[in-house]
Amino acid sequence: MKSQLAYSFALAAGVSARTFTVTNKCSYTVWPALFTDLNVAKNVPSQPTGWEAAPGTSVSFQVPDDWKAGRIWGRRECDFTDNTKPGYLQCASGGCNGGLLCDTATGTGVPPATVAEWTLAGDGGADWYDVSLVDGFNIPMAVTNNVGCPVPDCKADLDATCPTELKKIGPSGAVVGCNSSCNANLDGNQANSPNCCSGSFNTPATCPSSRVAFYSFFKSACPNSYAYAYDESSGTALWTCPTAKKADFTLTFCP
Ligand SMILES: *[C@@H]1O[C@H](CO)[C@@H](O)[C@H](O)[C@H]1NC(C)=O
Repeated sequence: MKSQLAYSFALAAGVSARTFTVTNKCSYTVWPALFTDLNVAKNVPSQPTGWEAAPGTSVSFQVPDDWKAGRIWGRRECDFTDNTKPGYLQCASGGCNGGLLCDTATGTGVPPATVAEWTLAGDGGADWYDVSLVDGFNIPMAVTNNVGCPVPDCKADLDATCPTELKKIGPSGAVVGCNSSCNANLDGNQANSPNCCSGSFNTPATCPSSRVAFYSFFKSACPNSYAYAYDESSGTALWTCPTAKKADFTLTFCP
């Protein structure tokens, strides 16, 4: 009995992990996608890199305690049977290289997409996380936790209010996403753009939010979100939770 207990304890310590839950409260099917930047760290969650989530469904899975550069987002209006199209075009928004399963090296997702991002066990003894609108918006989401840490979200339906020049329309005719001004290439030069914080605008000082077109459209509707490349200056973009609390996280689509 004694040795059995010791063994269980050692096993539990060896597989130290968090529980992540992904819930779809939207009225439509979402195809969640999960990507880990393997250049940053090799540890990956126990969940496949893509799956189908019918309305009202939830899945839980294990994520390594030190998951780094991880992201989860949702895809809309997918049809993976159409092999005439590359994987990233098999969904009306949020599609990735691959198909149902996003490619583990290049399957980061195509804008517009609302993206939840994590670096667990990051700098300063903290888990770092956010809801990013840097690549635009496609589905409302919230990232909650079980230890009382901050809750980033974007609950507003920005597809409904999206400015015409940023709207992405799906095959069904519905608005399936709202691009950032950078991705929509509004100023015609993504390589040197105050909307993209690129070229001569590639520092926080030279890329203030005041010069990013439609920044306040996104940030005022979703003040807890990460709304442009250098949004840390807002103080309400990037969130932390002490790693020692070993938070479990829930990502809810259409919270
Ligand atoms: C949205 O952004 C993507 C990526 O930059 C681009 O390919 C697409 O044309 C854009 N769509 C709209 C409607 O702006």
